[in-house]
Amino acid sequence: MASATASKRKGFFSPDVCDDFMAFLGDENELDMARQIAAKRAWPAEAVRDGGMHEALGVMKGGATARVVLVDVTGSEDPIADVERLSASVGQGASVIVIGKTNDVSFFHDLIEVGAADYLVKPINAQKLEKAIDLASQTGRATGRGRQRTGRLTVVLGVRGGVGATTIATNIAWIMAHQFSQKTALLDLDLHFGTTTLSLDLEPGNGLREALASPHRLDELFVASAIVKENDNLSVLGTEEPVEEAVNFSGDASLELVKQLRGNHSQVVVDLPRALMALQKPLLAAADSIVLVSDQTLAGIRDINRALHAIADLAGETAVIKVAARVGADRKAQVAKKDFERGIGCEIDYVVPEDAKTLTICANAGKAIPAVSAKCQAAVVCGELAHRVSGYREATPKRKGLFGLGGGSAKPVKSKAAKGKK
Ligand SMILES: Nc1ncnc2c1ncn2[C@@H]1O[C@H](COP(=O)(O)OP(=O)(O)O)[C@@H](O)[C@H]1O
Ligand SMILES: [Mg+2]
Repeated sequence: MASATASKRKGFFSPDVCDDFMAFLGDENELDMARQIAAKRAWPAEAVRDGGMHEALGVMKGGATARVVLVDVTGSEDPIADVERLSASVGQGASVIVIGKTNDVSFFHDLIEVGAADYLVKPINAQKLEKAIDLASQTGRATGRGRQRTGRLTVVLGVRGGVGATTIATNIAWIMAHQFSQKTALLDLDLHFGTTTLSLDLEPGNGLREALASPHRLDELFVASAIVKENDNLSVLGTEEPVEEAVNFSGDASLELVKQLRGNHSQVVVDLPRALMALQKPLLAAADSIVLVSDQTLAGIRDINRALHAIADLAGETAVIKVAARVGADRKAQVAKKDFERGIGCEIDYVVPEDAKTLTICANAGKAIPAVSAKCQAAVVCGELAHRVSGYREATPKRKGLFGLGGGSAKPVKSKAAKGKK
């Protein structure tokens, strides 16, 4: 719960941010009301700012967050897309209250759907505003309908070893955090040999093994101890446990950890070793998307089919996405794409080409693929996959020109690979 005392800290790109409350309002009257409410609660003056959605996105996308964010969408070209971006930027722990002129119930529903906690139609009165702020402060993560918001869960599973699954998990998480400005957690469940931290040049964390060993004790602080921050938006959970020690954790333990992560991240990406597939069925069942990664070989056909069979009973609303990775002329024992697709009985959704040159630079520098070569095909395909699984919608083109999307273009580029050409 929020402390009564106001807390201030530096945002990544922004001046001081108040952890409890931030308002971005264009109307003098509403600014006055918000200032009075803030003053009553001893929130600092810079918590209430002249502006609107543009300013809110500018301040909050740098990883800053506040418990309650109040924003006027009057000047916004596409308020629904903008509120969705803002909600994703501030993370699941914050509530976004929207103010606007549109008095339309379907508009209200759309706003709630994309993550708003409440919507107030102008003209606003002070009591209503105060009540909405108090309710949002108290309910914390609950949205206007009292529903617990949860981040999207993507589980990446390499059906064979060395096919590039960890590379894909790491890079889609990096893209969600850096290019989509979404609060993202990357959980590496290979506790002995996981390479997500290594590939991002991070020290492995200390608390992951303990967190998985004590699911009943998990709380925000405990989970935070297992997190290593790659930047303000990207939390990485990975460890290098001694190879001589067996480490077992149950499906319920990882599920509980993921549940906690989904509480304050918009996206959770799990790199799941194939050996854990049977034990981690609850996690697979909870996923919004399962990404099956294989090389384009006969063995890959066999193992994709076995993985598809194993998860056939879970699918339901889960999207199962098939990726052929490390595909290229210099890779041995590959089969033609059409033969591979015939073998698995469906189309490949994405093809990640073999790109030894870029991946070698990435490995040696501890960098993500788009940070080394934003335009290479592997980066483009990872970007498309990140779009698909995150459900991220970019801002209207006009807005994008004004204040950009941190870390490079977030526009999906239709690649030959995704269209199935080779
Ligand atoms: N598209 C690619 N092109 C070239 N090398 C790749 C590609 N994807 C991954 N690699 C390399 O292949 C090795 C195995 O990749 P990794 O992602 O760890 O596979 P997995 O998790 O499936 O075992 C790593 O050295 C990685 O750098
Ligand atoms: Mg791996």
